[in-house]
Amino acid sequence: LLTDRSYTERCVKRFLEPFRLSQKTLQDISSRLTQDMIKGLGRHSHHKAPVKMLPTFVRATPDGTEKGDFLALDLGGTNFRVLHVRVNEDEKSVLKMDSEICAIPQEIMTGTGEQLFDHIAACLGTFLEKQGLKEQVLPLGFTFSFPCEQKEIDKSILIRWTKGFNCSGVEGRDVVQLLKEAVRRQGDYEIGTVAMVNDTVGTMMSCGYRDQSCEIGMIIGTGTNACYMEEMCNVKRVEGEGGRMCINTEWGGFGDDGSLRDIQTQFDLEVDRSSINPGVHIFEKMISGMYLGEIVRLLLVKMTEDKILFSGKVSEKLRTSGAFLTKFISEIEHGSFQRILSDLGLQWSTADLRAVHLICDTVSSRSAQLCAAALAAVANRIRTNRGLDHLDTTVGVDGTVFKKHPTAELRSMVHKLAPKCTLKFIVSEDGSGKGAAMVTAVAQRIAAQCGYCVLGQDTQHPSFLQLLCL
Ligand code: GLC
Repeated sequence: LLTDRSYTERCVKRFLEPFRLSQKTLQDISSRLTQDMIKGLGRHSHHKAPVKMLPTFVRATPDGTEKGDFLALDLGGTNFRVLHVRVNEDEKSVLKMDSEICAIPQEIMTGTGEQLFDHIAACLGTFLEKQGLKEQVLPLGFTFSFPCEQKEIDKSILIRWTKGFNCSGVEGRDVVQLLKEAVRRQGDYEIGTVAMVNDTVGTMMSCGYRDQSCEIGMIIGTGTNACYMEEMCNVKRVEGEGGRMCINTEWGGFGDDGSLRDIQTQFDLEVDRSSINPGVHIFEKMISGMYLGEIVRLLLVKMTEDKILFSGKVSEKLRTSGAFLTKFISEIEHGSFQRILSDLGLQWSTADLRAVHLICDTVSSRSAQLCAAALAAVANRIRTNRGLDHLDTTVGVDGTVFKKHPTAELRSMVHKLAPKCTLKFIVSEDGSGKGAAMVTAVAQRIAAQCGYCVLGQDTQHPSFLQLLCL
């Protein structure tokens, strides 16, 4: 039995070898991302850049004096949510007054854009009705977690869908316009100024109310991405040299030009091939919740076919794509998982159990290490931008993959790869919803400081839109 067990273990380890990345490789990946970030920021090179480095028109982080009531929409994670948020100056808090989850059925996620936005506007209408807010015209922060070419804070053109969405007629269009048209079609309520926000930006901004040194926002959830405050003089696509602007890196697209081919395993290639958007968001497909479970499933199938696991018997269920959920990985890492395997129709030995544990550990650890390499690139960039010997900064983080997995590995790897940076992590609660309200609030604060009235209907005043890009 013992030899059997160690034989299985040896075979499993050999299989997992390509998933183990040395510190040197990670350092190299971090440098490649740094190069791609520079490319993405360039006036001429950005068109072809896989890492898009999108200007967000968010120029200021909160200063603690923002206040007011806001609506927020959050689309792009596991659920679509509508929120009523109050920013409370006295308590320095962002309060979620109420919120509601609206399911987005699969056929809408891959249907027409009009159906999607009608569904969103209908959910918002029902929420306002229930909250007794239908007669008010509140400013709205829209967290839309997809790559958008932002022209202003309220003009945001979808570059392409990512994750599970693929609605027709939205790519290349202004999402704010599509939302406003859908609200108009509902006909029985109005919304005030709209501020568009990526979830990374929302996360950074919501943490920024508590900790004003929060200058990086990171998501490791259904997808993965980060934003950070970049010097305006490096943002060649936007006029103006002074101050800073938040850049949505869209680091999920790292590798879309083939630059990560050397570390992609046959399982990564297969996950990409069978996804709804092959060739798109290669880095994300090695890291985030939408794909990790599938990588593990493919590994289990292959190792079983090669007679290393489960006495060579692959169950029907295990052959079904999507059958191994990403949340199983953290459940397995935490110990009890016989039920998961029996639900998958598998019969196991003790050696199988140890192997499954090792597989899950390896896949999630690679995800953490790749994120660390990317985060180190961002932190190092901020440090060198500012000519500092040492950078102390805060990262606002959200996403179930981050929250459900041990983070020690990510932290210690960032420390190794960016030794001159000390990063503090704040886990954001409801960051993307509250953060969207926060962006709208900061915009109003800046507008008010400049003496404009931006409340209610007057938020349509053009100055409001320009104030974020002073
Ligand atoms: C995908 C999206 C990006 C988002 C991330 C996390 O990578 O393209 O905009 O921030 O998922 O939700």
